[in-house]
Amino acid sequence: MSISKDVDIKYQLPGTDEYTRFERIHNVVFPESTIGSKAVAQEIKALIVAKQEANESCVLGLATGSSPIKVYEELVRMHREEGLSFQNVISFNLDEYLGLAGNHRESYRYFMNHHLFNHVDIPIKQTHIPDGTIDPSEYTEYCRKYEELIHQAGGIDFQLLGIGRTGHIGFNEPGSHINSITRVVSLNHITRVDAAQAFYGIEHVPRKAITMGIRSVLGARRIVLLAWGSNKASIVAQAVEHKVTNQVPATYLQHHENVTMILDQGAASELTRIKTPWLVGECTWSEELQLKAVVWLSEQLQKSILKLTESDYSNHGMSTLIADVGSAYDLNIHMFNRLQRTITGWPGGKPEVDDRYRPERAHPGKKRVLIFSPHPDDDVISMGGTLERLVEQGHEVHVAYQTSGNLAVSNEEAWKYAQIVGHFAPNSDASTALKRMLENDQEETDPELLRTLKGQIRRKESLLATRYLGMAEDQVHFLDLPFYETGRAQKKEIGQADISRVSDLIKCVTPHQIYAAGDLADPHGTHKKCLDILFASLDALKEQPFIKDCWVWLYRGAWDEWPLDEIDMAVPMSPGQVLKKGMPSFTINPKKTTSCSRGMIPENSGFEWRIGTGKQLKAIIN
Ligand code: F6R
Repeated sequence: MSISKDVDIKYQLPGTDEYTRFERIHNVVFPESTIGSKAVAQEIKALIVAKQEANESCVLGLATGSSPIKVYEELVRMHREEGLSFQNVISFNLDEYLGLAGNHRESYRYFMNHHLFNHVDIPIKQTHIPDGTIDPSEYTEYCRKYEELIHQAGGIDFQLLGIGRTGHIGFNEPGSHINSITRVVSLNHITRVDAAQAFYGIEHVPRKAITMGIRSVLGARRIVLLAWGSNKASIVAQAVEHKVTNQVPATYLQHHENVTMILDQGAASELTRIKTPWLVGECTWSEELQLKAVVWLSEQLQKSILKLTESDYSNHGMSTLIADVGSAYDLNIHMFNRLQRTITGWPGGKPEVDDRYRPERAHPGKKRVLIFSPHPDDDVISMGGTLERLVEQGHEVHVAYQTSGNLAVSNEEAWKYAQIVGHFAPNSDASTALKRMLENDQEETDPELLRTLKGQIRRKESLLATRYLGMAEDQVHFLDLPFYETGRAQKKEIGQADISRVSDLIKCVTPHQIYAAGDLADPHGTHKKCLDILFASLDALKEQPFIKDCWVWLYRGAWDEWPLDEIDMAVPMSPGQVLKKGMPSFTINPKKTTSCSRGMIPENSGFEWRIGTGKQLKAIIN
């Protein structure tokens, strides 16, 4: 097992060997979500076609959210390019927010029309999505009818699922009963937090939803659950490896005989066989795996590395490791030194000193540094202390904000600024237009003028923060990458214009160091796209002489830190810097509450953040 390299590879049968002995749900790990999504679309296509050949309808249970988007994209492509017809498909969606009409841009009816139904030949009357606007007096009857409709259609042939960070499937939140059927439920706070960005603030996220129940889902003849990205890793591991519990509703899938979880490497990363392979079988002990094992054992036993004994190693499946390296003493010392050398107060390199064991080169003593920040705040939130050190230590530091970040500014916030514009220029075209837009907030997407206002709000906040760090305005670059400028949470595909804007800036700065955000918890998110754009730009520039001398560092901040064994450089923050980071001028994202901002300060304040080099990046550059 178990990384499928190609969509043609058949899903494997549930593992029965030692390797998967901790696992209670069959799963397949794909190198990327796009490839996994294509494989799932192929399975759906095969089912639709088989049913057509048998002159039967095909009943699909469908999900919304970010996870199935690429599956729907692929199905639409199959319809357009391969003539896949959906005439025989009857669909039932899992859920809908209560209170939202089908034309609300965040309703699941809108989502389904937008991503699938409008682009294929499914008769719309064959699509079923719970109605979020029904009167409370009709809830019980309505939900009973929804179940009846599924039953009348012959039951669900294929159920597509995502998984929430709470372990919910559909909107069956923790506490849901195994016998639950379609009903009205309250949404868990974490689920509402996760939806907050799309709704421009948690206060706008509905509190209730209608969802099919656990029993309704388990009634499907085949279930496929999709999970992408490391922010799903922990809940996926619980669903797959823990005992069935109503506290993690996805564990109920263990009762189903024909279920597969389709994962990417991030989502699979907490499975025992991937996280701690020495616990499931023999390992080839590469240097990287040794480090991972030592760090894990030290954390597991809450013992410092230098105190780990041979029996500690043997008792945790690592006796072959000790046999390979000779002794626990040698291994401990080696790994201790390796980790110790990642720590430096000189992120730009320490001039005039022996740099053999330092993360950065000593020469040139003064470097040109280019920090890429996907949104106008990631730099400060994730590496503000390091940024300050780089400036203080005399490097030429540039920051490039890749996107305008305008989506994160709520209409309420924009309204405040529009009022100020109106105060100074009451009859200007801009102020009249802004007033009109904000008062009739009916548009599906933010009009350009409103996006400009929101983008400017974020620009000024970033300029405030960079000025606070001692940077000149001409070292701050706003790229406003076009892929982001849709006025909606859904972004465009990356284009040449995005890549050129980034490569032009790199050519202009000719940096010795590039820093880029490497927190890719959501593989469809803006951070991933921004990093892909940077990779493509570097690839285009790889023949340029200055690139050969340019190192790329990936930084991660408060949300998803590097595992200790993957860190190549860790920069400690002084107590003064920690205090400075908490200053009000750093509370720069209007969407984030003060407590969120303060939550970004690590509690122990030992290290602000960690950096790892992407080995693949070095490969691109050299
Ligand atoms: C959506 C649904 C939810 C989502 C889950 C994951 O119809 O029922 O259970 O599948 O919240 O959402 P994403 O895919 O956005 O991470």
